Formats: sequence, C-alpha cells, structure tokens
Amino acid sequence: MKSGLIALILLLPCAGMADIPKQRLDEGKQIAFDRNKGNCLACHVIADGESPGNIGPALATVPDRFKDKQRLREQIWDATRFNPETSMPPFGRNHILDAEEIDKVVDYLWSLE
Ligand code: HEC
Repeated sequence: MKSGLIALILLLPCAGMADIPKQRLDEGKQIAFDRNKGNCLACHVIADGESPGNIGPALATVPDRFKDKQRLREQIWDATRFNPETSMPPFGRNHILDAEEIDKVVDYLWSLE
C-alpha cells in the first residue's frame, strides 16, 4: 500500500504539469524565497519577491528558456556544470537544499510564465 502510494507520487510529475497541486507550488516558492533555504531572491528577480538582487537573470518564462525540467533541475543542482565561473551556489551538490526541496523549486519555477 505504502509503496503503491510512493509510486503514484513519483509518477505524478510525468502525468503533465497541469496537475501539480497549488500547495506544492507554494512550498517550492517558500523554499526559493526563504533566506535560509534557496535565497534565490538574493540574485534573481522573481514575481512577488521583495527587494530582489540582479546578479542573475530574472526568473520568468522559465519553460521557454529550458528544454525540459531536468535541464532546469541540473542548473539548480550544480550551476557550475554549465559555467564553472558562476556565482550561483551548487544547491544540490553542496547540500544547501535536499533533492525533494529542489524538485519543489523546479515545479514552482516551471509554473512561472
Ligand atoms: C549568489 C547569486 C545567486 C543565487 C543565490 C542564485 N542564483 Fe541562479 N544564477 C545566478 C547567476 C549569476 C546566473 C547566470 C548564469 C551563470 O552564472 O552561469 C544564474 C542563473 C540561474 C538560472 C538560469 C536562468 C536562465 O534564464 O538562464 C536559473 C534557473 C537559476 N539561476 C535559478 C536559481 C534558483 C532557483 C536559485 C535559488 C534556489 C538561485 N538561482 C540562486 C546567481 C545566483
């Protein structure tokens, strides 16, 4: 029963993004905005974010800029893979965020139009 539920949760993202619950998107937003978590606003303008920095590009129309969610996830997991000189912290590689937190941030960013 429990593993069935887990399989369902794992399969849900493949079923299409329209079905991602608002609560999950809100959690992703919270992680991205939290100064002790993603703190993405230190460097990125994001809709609704207060006092953002502009060290990195504004995070809007995200699905237009990445071919798929996996590529977006890799950017957040370890931005140095694509630019060794980047100032963006490697959130996954350095365990700043755990895998689940990064997945939520990815879902949230993917919902930004
Ligand atoms: C210390 C500054 C800094 C922080 C904090 C930061 N980033 Fe970045 N980010 C950058 C910079 C600079 C770039 C530009 C690309 C590069 O440097 O290679 C970038 C690029 C990106 C891109 C690619 C944007 C595009 O259109 O090409 C995404 C997506 C992104 N960041 C997401 C995030 C998320 C999500 C967080 C928080 C979890 C975050 N960043 C935190 C500096 C930062």
